[in-house]
Amino acid sequence: MNTEKVTVDEQQILNEIFDGLNQIQKKLPSKYFYDEKGSQLFDQICRLDEYYLTRTEMMILKNNVDQIAECFGDDSIFIEYGSGSSLKSRILLKNIKNLSGYVPIDISTEHLQSTAASLNERYPDLDIYPVAADYTKKIEIPDIKKTVKRRMGFFPGSTLGNFLPEEAREFLAVVADELGENGGLIIGIDLRKDKEILEAAYNDKKGITAQFNFNILHHLNDQFGFNFNVNAFKHYAPFNEEHSRIEMHLVSSEEQTVKCRNEVFHFAKWETILTEYSHKYTMEAFQNIIAGLFEIDKIWTDEKNYFAVLYLKTVL
Ligand code: AVJ
Repeated sequence: MNTEKVTVDEQQILNEIFDGLNQIQKKLPSKYFYDEKGSQLFDQICRLDEYYLTRTEMMILKNNVDQIAECFGDDSIFIEYGSGSSLKSRILLKNIKNLSGYVPIDISTEHLQSTAASLNERYPDLDIYPVAADYTKKIEIPDIKKTVKRRMGFFPGSTLGNFLPEEAREFLAVVADELGENGGLIIGIDLRKDKEILEAAYNDKKGITAQFNFNILHHLNDQFGFNFNVNAFKHYAPFNEEHSRIEMHLVSSEEQTVKCRNEVFHFAKWETILTEYSHKYTMEAFQNIIAGLFEIDKIWTDEKNYFAVLYLKTVL
């Protein structure tokens, strides 16, 4: 098993966070939801009644696993962008024939190591090449021992929805470049639907999504020494019809200042920090994002048309 790590410089990370908090609309990068606690909360979200995304996507993958596995062809490598606990890829991994390697990319080293270890136990013949990195930046694909005829990417969970449309396109341009000629991408996207259903999914009755949102502040306090008073913020997640996205915010319920190192951030009462966008696509909007980068080869969806899994091919 290959255990090479890519470490990122701390000051660079802090600057990115400070920049976001210095904007007129304060922002935090969504990737900071996912520390140990945040990943656990996200797993809980995935099991909520209101959060149809994970369940629906899993069902689509299971119902069409033969067709999806067939898209890989022989001797491909399987690169997963943001592998987490590799729950979804497991469905595919056991069905793809003659896979030359599995390359899970994740920002959490611990998650990556434990998942790689458990996969290794379950599939001893599978060559796993974990990459600890922020997959939004260009990644160096490790050397693969076996013959590689093509690169196949996997980007499930509608994580693409976190990006603004321009950013999504930029990200997919990097991915298309990494996958190269004859490359393929299996991607999951959440489709546009009634506002009520969408808002329920991000404002669950048990308040798990709210806890998940607050956790970004706990994470910054713990990891970087911010002094956020988490109790002085409220969870707010409306659907923005114009931009077709859920916008997750933390609303400051009082005037306050927050510090980290030598930086001071001032919050007016009711000022918000934008913590996440979750775009909901029509097929048309999605086509526009991938135009010139990928072509849609196949689409699988559920009965209600809530979610779609697509097989894209690079256009180079
Ligand atoms: C993991 C980005 C797909 O946008 O639905 C869940 C994250 N945020 N509940 C999403 C999330 C609030 C999720 N993604």
